[in-house]
Amino acid sequence: MLIKKRTGIEIPSSQITPEHLYLSRRHFMKGAAAIAAGALLAACRPDPPTTLPPTVAASDETGAAPATAAAISVATDELGRAVNSFESITNYNNYYEFTVDKQRVAELAADFQTSPWRVVVTGMVDKPGIYEIDDLRRKFDQEERIYRLRCVEAWSMVIPWQGFPLAQLLQAAQPQSAAKYVRFQTLYDPEQMPGQKSSRYEWPYTEGLRLDEAMHPLTILATGLYGRDLLPQNGAPVRLVVPWKYGFKSIKSIVQIELTDVMPTSLWMAAAPHEYGFYANVNPEVDHPRWSQASERLIGVGRQETLMFNGYADQVAALYAGMDLRRNF
Ligand code: MTE
Repeated sequence: MLIKKRTGIEIPSSQITPEHLYLSRRHFMKGAAAIAAGALLAACRPDPPTTLPPTVAASDETGAAPATAAAISVATDELGRAVNSFESITNYNNYYEFTVDKQRVAELAADFQTSPWRVVVTGMVDKPGIYEIDDLRRKFDQEERIYRLRCVEAWSMVIPWQGFPLAQLLQAAQPQSAAKYVRFQTLYDPEQMPGQKSSRYEWPYTEGLRLDEAMHPLTILATGLYGRDLLPQNGAPVRLVVPWKYGFKSIKSIVQIELTDVMPTSLWMAAAPHEYGFYANVNPEVDHPRWSQASERLIGVGRQETLMFNGYADQVAALYAGMDLRRNF
């Protein structure tokens, strides 16, 4: 069940979606229908001026293609950036297990089997466990969070997720005192994920966080977006979302979470260690060796400056106090 929950931690209340914005789809559609005619006209404009916020597309009742976009300009993050349309979020994806073509992931992942699905929590914990996906949805109250997602490729979106703090699952597993890191792994199934037949990368996709990063209240396991279950292209049925780090840290379709005392080597660290580090914190002052990270293209809006820690510095900068962020990139 989806609930609104005060976490008691330093998440600005505007990052937890205001109740009136996250309605059932039926209600959402009613809201859309009530939008003034001028807004609908705006949604039909071929190329809106970049100063206007992007419109929000409402899902249709069948769960198939989203309905015509309706301008709901109040659906913003705490910086006032409008959430991207459902259409954009589900049709412009990075998911190398299927293809490197962002605009074909949805089509190629359409038949990906996400049920039954189990997530194993293992390693340096006193209470290891195997969770069916429905257990995760039932045992941990699902919250709504509007987060910015900043890809290392210098594009970004604003996404309304549903999920729960990873800390809750880790606490249930009772990490041992020697555990320092969390290692995440995506499903390995080359028959379903043709990209895994390529030897270019070390499959399965693997990511890692320091334990304190994993326990941070902004770090969530997402099971849905826009009020519905995740679609395969976005990492169904469960993925990590770490909003202050480059998007590649937010690993999709997780099957294993392991507590360890060894810093995990991610797929990207193994593929190009001089380009992708363990931390991957969004940092406009540290460029990628092949391009600048000072700005980004917010999909549907245009180019804008990139913010330190993707705009979450107040909440997370203390995690890196005293560290050289150029060396620990
Ligand atoms: N997880 C897996 N398993 N495989 C991937 O290729 N791509 C990452 C991340 N998680 C990726 C992944 C990258 S580079 C980004 S930017 C985000 O997913 C994109 O998430 P989205 O497609 O839901 O926007």
